Amino acid sequence: MSRTRRLRLGAFLRPVSLHTAAWRYPGAFPDGNFNFAHYRRYAEILERGCFDAMFLADSLAVLKMPMGALKRSATVTSFDPLTLLPALAAVTSRLGLIATASTTYNEPYHIARKFASLDHLSGGRAGWNLVTSVNPNEAMNFGLDSHLDHGARYAKAREFFDVVTGLWDSWADDAFVRDVETGVYFDPDKMHVLDHKGAHYNVRGPLNIARPVQGWPVIVQAGSSEEGREIAAATAEMVFCAHGTLAQGQSFYRDVKGRMASYGRDPEHLKILPGAFVVVGDSLAQAEDIKARLDALVHPESGIASLQVALGQVDLSGVDLDGPLPDLPETNASKGSQRKLVELARTRNMTVRQLCQYVGGSYGTMEMIGTPAMIADQMEEWLETRGCDGFNVMFPYVPGGLEAFVDRVVPELQRRDLFRTAYEGATLRENLGLPRPPNRFFERIGGMRGSANVST
Ligand SMILES: Cc1cc2nc3c(=O)[nH]c(=O)nc-3n(C[C@H](O)[C@H](O)[C@H](O)COP(=O)(O)O)c2cc1C
Repeated sequence: MSRTRRLRLGAFLRPVSLHTAAWRYPGAFPDGNFNFAHYRRYAEILERGCFDAMFLADSLAVLKMPMGALKRSATVTSFDPLTLLPALAAVTSRLGLIATASTTYNEPYHIARKFASLDHLSGGRAGWNLVTSVNPNEAMNFGLDSHLDHGARYAKAREFFDVVTGLWDSWADDAFVRDVETGVYFDPDKMHVLDHKGAHYNVRGPLNIARPVQGWPVIVQAGSSEEGREIAAATAEMVFCAHGTLAQGQSFYRDVKGRMASYGRDPEHLKILPGAFVVVGDSLAQAEDIKARLDALVHPESGIASLQVALGQVDLSGVDLDGPLPDLPETNASKGSQRKLVELARTRNMTVRQLCQYVGGSYGTMEMIGTPAMIADQMEEWLETRGCDGFNVMFPYVPGGLEAFVDRVVPELQRRDLFRTAYEGATLRENLGLPRPPNRFFERIGGMRGSANVST
């Protein structure tokens, strides 16, 4: 009897690895994060593995860290996601293409237009990871002296979402008649002027591009604070998150999906994909050896700097590395990540140095290390016990770590009927089993609304 629920798999590929020493690993591409030929190869490997999507994180500034660490970071140069993904759309046909774009340091009209263009160019495979920007350095690149307050960022994000989706609904799907005889290019009754006037934005519209192929590109979120969970329940169709344990995953899953009814949304129309840093080996010992050799390449200055970032940009200079983590000020950056790491350090009685080694590698993301069967067991347990709907897979290094997952773990998941053996459809929505959002200005919206909630 075939399974009713199968895994959804995203590939976290900007940066190509969260492991700060990945570019130094024997056989890895040192320029893996900034070479189009390599990215084309990653996309082809992922499509061969029937992955749902390639996901590109983004930040509008280099990471905030001391030069001793920054000079060792491979993330300081990489492509703008909304420039790279259209290029990859031309060399792929089924792989979803998810780009991150900030609602704090962008304008809604620009974002609506770029994602609509990516969706048309890719035949309906675009996704937008809507973030409020976790890197405070971004503020200084947009004329500000300090990062917008956490709560203010989310309030702005909520209106930003309404404006972007309103612009995507500017045209009915059949607006463009292109009647060569009469010379009429579009039906004026099928164009809507948004005329949005709000607390943060005044945007007239219409958008100067036809309604995206998917109606809307798939909406993705990655916040886990109270504000992050609420906006996800109201608007998201995919959530990327970071958990240390299955229990944390199950509690987050129940919490966020439990909020959706209050927005008239079907919990099945949200896919929750925790990050999983996966190291594959012929044996557990061999996989652990790969991880140990990677971690040994992490320079102490990188370790402490990564910990400061993961703890929400706190300053740990002068802290006793062999002592426990001191009490920390509440962060204005990543509240969810800070809370998770403080809890981990307390429950495992870790010293700051141990936390550096833990974070230095994969920023505290959940790790799956072992043989293909062991990794499939873990993934099966998370899926079956409602800890997730799939995973955002992070690779220890490229191309080897990516190829090992696609060539060895995917076949094991397919053998267990836990993952597709062929794409179900042509668009990202079809492959994720998500409905196409009705156009609020031209289509009747009745019954249980599948698509995201629009504050009217
Ligand atoms: C898997 C994942 C990917 C993320 N990608 C980005 C990103 O590309 N850019 C960004 O500014 N923040 C990114 N974030 C951070 C979130 O958007 C958010 O700021 C962070 O999770 C803290 O949210 P919170 O304060 O609501 O807990 C990511 C978070 C996760 C878990």
